[in-house]
Amino acid sequence: MGSTGPGPARILMDIDTGIDDAWELVYLLSRPEIHIQAITCTAGNVGARQVALNSLALLELCGRPGIEVAMGAEVPLQIPLVTTEETHGPQGIGYAVLPLAQQEISSRHAVDVWIEEVRAHPGEITGLITGPLTNFALALRRDPELPRLLKGLVIMGGCFYYQGNTTPTAEWNVSVDPHAAKEVFAAYTGLPEHQLPVVCALETTERIEFCPDHVAELARIAGAAPEQVLPQQPEGMRSTSDNPLVAALSDSIRCYMEFHRLYDQGYIAHMHDAFAAAVAAGRTPYRTRLASVDVEVDSALLIGTTVADYRGLWGKAPNARIVVDNDPQQCFTELLNSIGTLARNLYGESKSTDTEPKTDSSLRRPGAGVSGTAR
Ligand code: BDR
Ligand code: CA
Repeated sequence: MGSTGPGPARILMDIDTGIDDAWELVYLLSRPEIHIQAITCTAGNVGARQVALNSLALLELCGRPGIEVAMGAEVPLQIPLVTTEETHGPQGIGYAVLPLAQQEISSRHAVDVWIEEVRAHPGEITGLITGPLTNFALALRRDPELPRLLKGLVIMGGCFYYQGNTTPTAEWNVSVDPHAAKEVFAAYTGLPEHQLPVVCALETTERIEFCPDHVAELARIAGAAPEQVLPQQPEGMRSTSDNPLVAALSDSIRCYMEFHRLYDQGYIAHMHDAFAAAVAAGRTPYRTRLASVDVEVDSALLIGTTVADYRGLWGKAPNARIVVDNDPQQCFTELLNSIGTLARNLYGESKSTDTEPKTDSSLRRPGAGVSGTAR
């Protein structure tokens, strides 16, 4: 999000790191105008402790220790936890293996972090949730004012009249904790439009389809040795890149590409969470549509299914702004330029201070943020 006031844009992240969460985090770390207020961790792709350790390790790899990483809920509100190591690798970051960070997990609980940070900076913090919504639902139970105190909220979750990626009708983050998602959407009913969450759901996040050329481009921008992640290479092959950040991201995405291939989607990787981060940072164009959203929690067949009432048939006030259009090409350029520049600045031979991505999309609306009007 482009900052509307003095100082950097503050983002409070809740993640379940996670390959695309890892790219999301590295991307936000690459943006000089973004201040990451804290990182809270939810069980999802892997267990909450592993999420926290992955996040700390990534901070260290990016030369940014000191950002608070707090653990939250280790299980969903009402149903048993399911994790997905087969999708994101045993540690959650694909084939990347990062050393244990020196920084320790915060002594604060994620729910306290949300309440205390948002209350300390009313109207300044954009929440960015790219894992199950458990922590935020718990925070809302204790402090129902949070939606009014946040500057904005971006959620990666759900799918609306679009094939799910966990069950035929449910997306992963909602599927892991459908009760939490239901509580979060309910909490937003009746709020002014500019405060409603911007929901990045599968129908637009699956358009952010990374392919081998994108990995090669990342290495090129980073000034690293040519990097190839190719379908004909042996599964699990590790990068030999001379740039440790490029190597880690390459190792992570190879695993994700193999997973997508396994499910007949091609040798690609959907960068759901990185797209949501670019939305929260106000650096990629998107168009939203108002809807009243609810989540199925009772039916064995449809549990975790997100339903959007776009036409007001339920007679309820809208509680979400669902992203209905985006610009994948601009998003690729944004992510690769920004992350590649960070990798070059951190580990490249000819370090540069140029961190401004070179985007060329005529659709871009610089500085537009999630608290702005729906587009
Ligand atoms: C979401 O599920 C997770 O596996 C990804 O990290 C992303 O947040 C996509 O459905
Ligand atoms: Ca995630």
